[in-house]
Amino acid sequence: MPTTSTPRRYLVCEPRHFAVQYAINPWMRPGAPVDTTLAQHQWHTLVHTLRTHGHTVDSAEPLPGLPDMVFAANSALVLAGRVFGSLFHAPQRRPESSAYETWFTSAGFAVHRPESVCEGEGDLVPAGRYVLAGTGFRTTPEAHREVQEFFGVPVVGLRLVDPYFYHLDTALFALDEENVAYYPDAFSSGSREVLARLFPDAVLATREDALAFGLNSVSDGRHVFISPRAAALAGRLARRGYVPVPVDLSEFHKAGGGIKCCTQEIRS
Ligand code: ARG
Repeated sequence: MPTTSTPRRYLVCEPRHFAVQYAINPWMRPGAPVDTTLAQHQWHTLVHTLRTHGHTVDSAEPLPGLPDMVFAANSALVLAGRVFGSLFHAPQRRPESSAYETWFTSAGFAVHRPESVCEGEGDLVPAGRYVLAGTGFRTTPEAHREVQEFFGVPVVGLRLVDPYFYHLDTALFALDEENVAYYPDAFSSGSREVLARLFPDAVLATREDALAFGLNSVSDGRHVFISPRAAALAGRLARRGYVPVPVDLSEFHKAGGGIKCCTQEIRS
């Protein structure tokens, strides 16, 4: 059951240079028109909505030539003020790691650089006593072991099997300390079983909800910032006592990202 919301600190990056210039996931069609004015407007609405719900939002400086830098979630995993940085799979995104490191350093955080490919909260989802960790497309099992060693928190590896859900945060999100929502078919059968054992009361989403980026949501324990296109999932969450807050990031879906991808949580 949802408890109360707790104020969070988030890091975002303005989509000043956002575009779809290469294809590193099945959502991306290079050259497909992106309405940059609408993208900016949608992103500012997200930031405004997070702030009006009591959260602090910091912003990293976007760099030209890094069109995916808006997806701040991929930059790191931050737990108890300790920062486990990123090493991107795609060469096009590799320079983002140092760009975000600049922000973390200026904000007073030291950054640990992973040795294997690791795409931050895109594949690493803290859920209660565990960090759930996706693999299959981006973050490697070696990185999972590094994360466990670095934080001393049990890391539960989960295998993603559908290229449309290439990051764990496109197929699952944490509702609170106890529960998660996910789309079962995005996972291997063994990983589905692991999720069913760990979270017997999980909120399950349909493929339609997942394709609408409904699982790329951010929860503060009570409010769930969610795509308005995932209506069925929002209804299911509301019946469980959560409060869905719709935020439309449709322009970012063209790059394979949504609300969570744009929102890195800084846990102190
Ligand atoms: N175009 C980006 C990529 O494929 C989108 C990243 C979305 N981020 C996320 N946390 N799922 O890498």
